[in-house]
Amino acid sequence: MSVEPEERRERERRYASGELKWPLAFEEWQTAAEEVLPARAFDYVAGAAGTETTMRANREAFYPWRLRPRMLTGNTERDLSVNVLGLRSPMPYLLAPVGVLSLMHPDGELAVCRAAAAAGIPYCVSSAASHTMEDMAKEMGAEHPKWFQFYWPNDREVAASFLDRAANAGYQGIELTVDTLTLGWRDRDMKTFFLPFLEDGQGIAQYASDPVFRSRLAKAPEEDWAHAGGTMVGMFQHVALNWDDLTWLRERTELPVLLKGILTSEDAVRARDSGIHGIVVSNHGGRQVDGAVAALDALVEVREAVGTGYPIVMDSGIRRAPDVLKALALGADAVQIGRPYAWGLAVGGQAGVAQVLTSLSGELDVTATLIGIRSAADLDRSSVTRA
Ligand code: FNR
Repeated sequence: MSVEPEERRERERRYASGELKWPLAFEEWQTAAEEVLPARAFDYVAGAAGTETTMRANREAFYPWRLRPRMLTGNTERDLSVNVLGLRSPMPYLLAPVGVLSLMHPDGELAVCRAAAAAGIPYCVSSAASHTMEDMAKEMGAEHPKWFQFYWPNDREVAASFLDRAANAGYQGIELTVDTLTLGWRDRDMKTFFLPFLEDGQGIAQYASDPVFRSRLAKAPEEDWAHAGGTMVGMFQHVALNWDDLTWLRERTELPVLLKGILTSEDAVRARDSGIHGIVVSNHGGRQVDGAVAALDALVEVREAVGTGYPIVMDSGIRRAPDVLKALALGADAVQIGRPYAWGLAVGGQAGVAQVLTSLSGELDVTATLIGIRSAADLDRSSVTRA
């Protein structure tokens, strides 16, 4: 179901005024988002690859791990802040790069920037956003911690231009996504022939604003969005990318680089030994390889292989505070959330994202209090048991 824009604005107003109660659980946010979004937009975010078993496995992987609460710790003050490669967050999570957020709300990523900045939560902005990285950086402010997510285009001069722009705009790190050198087989989008980049310039702001990309076009994007979108999609495919290319990347940017989408001990060790600064253990929220290992299970394997000290961020399936705490106990230095804040945006714009962050941070503090955790560093393997 979807509602008219006027009805959507009215609902947002009623949420903001307290007339309507904000959803609380992830499933409630998703249901509320489904009510207001066109079906294609809802499915684009809710869906995953193939039969969606990996998306489900991401959740199921958390269940057998149980927290081991410690009592009588006099836990009156807590500081759950983390610092990953210089990126500081007051809470052990950040906002994952989620593309094309104009599908969720007319304000798109800019509303997320405002909510992130107000909460102090870092935001890794997407290469496939509907606003430019410069506008998003400005919206968050110079002081706000931010990374840029990099889909490496198959045109190296465009790639170089993206990296330079990210550094100039004040981003403090690069997440190079290595699991999406071509898009996964996503049944829901295939049924509706939906690829947002081909429609009205949605999700191609980094490209359309890039002087080198523009020089590759026969017509300016503003004159022909379908042509610009088609060219972007052609440049996006980069299956030939391999480990040798990383040497160029490390020389091309002074920013720390994390490989996003690592799922095996072999690749994690190779990333570390290649001089890559850190990794994001992730299966893209189950959107790429149906049947792939759950991200939390991969985290256990990967942390064991690289040992302590190598920066690991983890995402895919984080919904609530206990999930965050379990992931930290199993070796993550921080986690990312994706769909939870996308649904917040759909339901309530900036205020909806803010509400999602307030809930997660609040639940984190209460749960940390109750299990006797004062800092993120207090969490280790002894904090969990496998049922
Ligand atoms: C994503 N993700 C993603 N990742 C990335 O590196 N660049 C991107 O542009 C996108 N775009 C994107 C769109 C949508 C609609 C979703 C749901 C996800 C993946 C994202 O960064 C993250 O890995 C997952 O969202 C984490 O899983 P959860 O929290 O959604 O379960």
